[in-house]
Parts: sequence; structure tokens; C-alpha cells
Amino acid sequence: MTVKIFDTPDVQDFLKTVAGFDQEGGNERAKQIMHRLLSDLFKLIDDFDVTPEEYWSAVSMLNALGGQTQFGLLSPGLGFDHYLDMRQDAIDAEAKRVGGTPRTIEGPLYVAGAPEAEGFARMDDGKDQDGETMWLTGQVRDVDGTPIAGAKVEIWHANSKGGYSFFDPTQSEYNLRRTIITDAEGRYTARSIIPSGYGVPEGAPTDLVLKSLGRHGERPAHIHYFVSAPNHLHLTTQINLAGDPYTYDDFAFATREELVVPAERIEDAGVIAQRELDGPFSEVVFDIELAKTDVAELQTRHARPRAKEDEQDQHSQLAGTAKV
Ligand code: DHB
Ligand code: FE
Repeated sequence: MTVKIFDTPDVQDFLKTVAGFDQEGGNERAKQIMHRLLSDLFKLIDDFDVTPEEYWSAVSMLNALGGQTQFGLLSPGLGFDHYLDMRQDAIDAEAKRVGGTPRTIEGPLYVAGAPEAEGFARMDDGKDQDGETMWLTGQVRDVDGTPIAGAKVEIWHANSKGGYSFFDPTQSEYNLRRTIITDAEGRYTARSIIPSGYGVPEGAPTDLVLKSLGRHGERPAHIHYFVSAPNHLHLTTQINLAGDPYTYDDFAFATREELVVPAERIEDAGVIAQRELDGPFSEVVFDIELAKTDVAELQTRHARPRAKEDEQDQHSQLAGTAKV
């Protein structure tokens, strides 16, 4: 078929009407963005000769994604989260905010309100039979190498099955989620368990979209961080454990070379006793550098619907309902 109608005055006028250009009310930015979005999609339908069957199956897929609140899961898989990071890196470079540990995506599975501790926290509830003990520690410093005492380090990660507490109702409340305030030397330490890689649920709408692209939905074993301190740029990042088959094949595109960290197996009885552990464990060391900024809004995480961030807020409630 060679029918092409996109550039006709009828279609162009129609797009302006649909986007509310001739209406007084509404929001100017919403109109501009909707007009552009619809124009791109109408043109795509023309260019690819999209059939009614294809169009309605896409609508059906969007309904399925929305019905299971999975857009937050699909978004990293389609590269949007990493693309926003690339843009923020470019914005920081232009503003000469350089140095510091690189950012990488937050992901959709943060839950606000984890218990807070000074210097040290045990993160796991001791119930994961397959969980190998992890000793996770590091120092938070500024870009000149000065330790930052009192920095807030929020850490969250999956269990040995790749599941996150709250989204996985079999886990106890806030399991593997803690906020640790750095000690006088800027250090934080957590006793936890080595996480497994995460995979998007088999057969879920997100999985179907990825499969249609010939892609998988697997992430390497990883540990999420939010790190903040007054007068420093808020950092959202993750470490990816070295040696995982997906370390360099992450469906969410979150791996960065500086963020690949080894887990070192420690079997020395003296060290085990000193840490008050009951057997061999794996140590993961991740030091963090924060760039400086005077701009108050850059010192906290950007707004986004997050599970339990605001109990009164409908978006926050929905962020906690993803089927994972
Ligand atoms: C997804 C899950 C994660 O644990 C993560 O860190 C990023 C993305 C996801 O399901 O899309
Ligand atoms: Fe994750």
C-alpha cells in the first residue's frame, strides 16, 4: 500500500484540533507535547502502514501494562531511564558540576521510610536460607577526598531469589532496605546478604514487549543507593556485582564501568570472629564521592511517584502496586 495522508492539510488541521490549539483552556505545554506526540505517531502509522489489527493490539498491550502498573518496569527496559541519566550528565557537565561517583538509574522498586541507623545496620531479617552473608562498606567523600560525616546513605537490594521486599509480600517489612548515616570518618557499613540478579516476571506485559524485540528482561546482581549530604549533589546510583552473566548485559542499561564492584570471599577465622559472623562471607567495598553544589534542589532526590513516599498521595500508592 502506498497511501500517504499525513502531510495533507486535512490531517494537519485535524492534529491541531485534537491537541486543543483552538481552545482557551488547558495547559500550553501539554498541548504542545501532545501535538508533537500525536504527529509523530500519526506519521508512524502512515509510514509503516499500521493496520487496525496492529493498532488495537498495541492499545490492548498498553491496557495490560497499565493494569499491572508496569510502565515503571518497562521504562528502564526501553532505555528511558538511562536516557534521562545521559541528559542529566550533559546538564551537569554544562554547569561544570564535574567529578563524583557516576549516577545511574533509580529503578521502580524503591520504598520510602526504611529504618535509619548510625554507621552500621543489619539489613536482612536472617530468614533467607540461601542468602550468603555480605559485608558492604565504604566511605563517603567529597571530590577533594575529604570524608563526609553525617551523610545519608540509603541502600536497597533484592534477596537471593531476586525479589524486593514490599513488592514481594513473602518478605518482612523493609527487609534489605536501610538508611545509614555515615560515622565521623564518613564510613557506612551494612551486614546483609548477597543479592541475586533480578528478572522481569515471566509472561508479564513487560516481558512480552521485550520478547517482541528479541530481548531478555534480566539484570545482574545489583545494589541501589541514594546518597546525600548538605552542600553536595544528591546521588542516585547502583553497584553491579562483578562476574554476574548479566553484568554487561543489563536489560535496564544501568551498568557503568566505575560501578562494577567485586565481592571478595573471606574465610579467615579471625576476620569472621572480629565481624561477629558465623562463617565465611563476601565483602563488597564501595566508596562514594559526592560533587559539590550550592543549589538546594540538587541536594535532594528529584520528585517521582515512589512507594510509601506520601501515604496521602494517589501516585505514591500506585507506585507500590507494580506486579513484579
Ligand atoms: C527494574 C527492576 C530493578 O530492580 C531495577 O533496579 C531496575 C529496573 C525493572 O523491573 O524494570
Ligand atoms: Fe533493582
